[in-house]
Amino acid sequence: MQPIKVRAETADDFRAIDVVNLSAFQGEAEAQLVGELRKTDGFIPDLSLVAELNGRIVGHVVLSRVRLHAPGGDKDVLALGPMSVVPSQSHRGIGSELIEAAVARAKPLCYGAIVVAGHPDYYLRFGFKPAKDWGVTTNLSIPDDALTAMELVDGTLSGGGEVEYPDLFKALF
Ligand SMILES: CC(C)(COP(=O)(O)OP(=O)(O)OC[C@H]1O[C@@H](n2cnc3c(N)ncnc32)[C@H](O)[C@@H]1OP(=O)(O)O)[C@@H](O)C(=O)NCCC(=O)NCCS
Repeated sequence: MQPIKVRAETADDFRAIDVVNLSAFQGEAEAQLVGELRKTDGFIPDLSLVAELNGRIVGHVVLSRVRLHAPGGDKDVLALGPMSVVPSQSHRGIGSELIEAAVARAKPLCYGAIVVAGHPDYYLRFGFKPAKDWGVTTNLSIPDDALTAMELVDGTLSGGGEVEYPDLFKALF
């Protein structure tokens, strides 16, 4: 397989990213969420990443800023997702490359942690842990086990708290 190039999205990629999300999720909700997320304060263009294979966009992941309401005061953390790889290229490590690149790019931006809602088995392999181990919950309607998290700065999650996802995410959860 040709090497995968992971890079930040540009406006020229928006349609291709929609196609990736539509095909991976077989529905419109995630593509719509990504489009809406771009219009919010929490959107960070450098953390909306595409995976390119032979010049074609085959994967996408976005990390956006969300608020952690913690006992010692609110903190900004990152929420990973939606994330998608076109079905024809899945199981080849593209999703893994996207997550590793996203984590590496998030670290220097000084956010203390990343949270992910959904598919805990997939994310645990990258060093995410059950968020409930820190006492971290969300305002989404998901089981406790469905939230995983990774500290980028030690101690960020140690007091627990509730992650406030924007209402946009409630279309998915
Ligand atoms: C989840 C997804 C992004 C993984 O991308 P990928 O490029 O196939 O990932 P990788 O090749 O790095 O890893 C594949 C491994 O992930 C695991 N995996 C894939 N989908 C999974 C899921 N829904 N739940 C748990 N584990 C999953 C499998 O163990 C797989 O291993 P295998 O190849 O030995 O079967 C991709 O399958 C996808 O777009 N799925 C549909 C959309 C989705 O569910 N997105 C994530 C939630 S926001």
